[in-house]
Amino acid sequence: MKKLTFILALSFVVITGTSYAYLHQVPISDNENISMYVPGDDPADAKFPEGAKIYKEKCVACHQLTGLGVPNAFPPLKGSDYLLTDKKRAVKQVLNGSNEEMIVNGAKYNIPMPFQVNTHEDAVHVINYVLNAWGNDGGTITVEEVKDIKIVRP
Ligand code: HEC
Repeated sequence: MKKLTFILALSFVVITGTSYAYLHQVPISDNENISMYVPGDDPADAKFPEGAKIYKEKCVACHQLTGLGVPNAFPPLKGSDYLLTDKKRAVKQVLNGSNEEMIVNGAKYNIPMPFQVNTHEDAVHVINYVLNAWGNDGGTITVEEVKDIKIVRP
């Protein structure tokens, strides 16, 4: 009987100790690679509100709230060399979509992306947002610079 009480007491200590440790774990590290902006807390949301709105309606499903995309399927926008080296190409990407192989940060993607917006204004809004969200420092582009992009619909 004494032994049973001892075992019960010991299990209690182990179980509560484990839950305590679990509850007090810090889930998000401040390591640059896994830190993320909480939605609405990203400075880009206030700077580019129209673009943030379009992003949350149309792009999150694939590129995710974190902008990290999904490995082997949807490329990242956060820190994307492909996005950051050519703003005008990015505007064209959301206006007309694409169906070609692309290398983003050294990884290959080739699932088609359907067109997302119907006006040069909306395309510029959302691209200016992604150029500056998640700590991206990609500058901005104007409607003037992209108005010669032809909208192509299948
Ligand atoms: C249905 C999923 C899906 C949606 C929704 C989507 N994308 Fe994409 N995106 C993709 C895929 C897949 C690719 C790669 C396309 C290819 O290989 O032709 C891509 C590529 C890109 C690229 C170029 C590659 C890179 O990562 O820099 C940009 C920029 C981009 N998308 C921005 C956006 C924006 C902005 C939106 C919302 C307005 C959006 N996408 C909505 C799936 C999606």
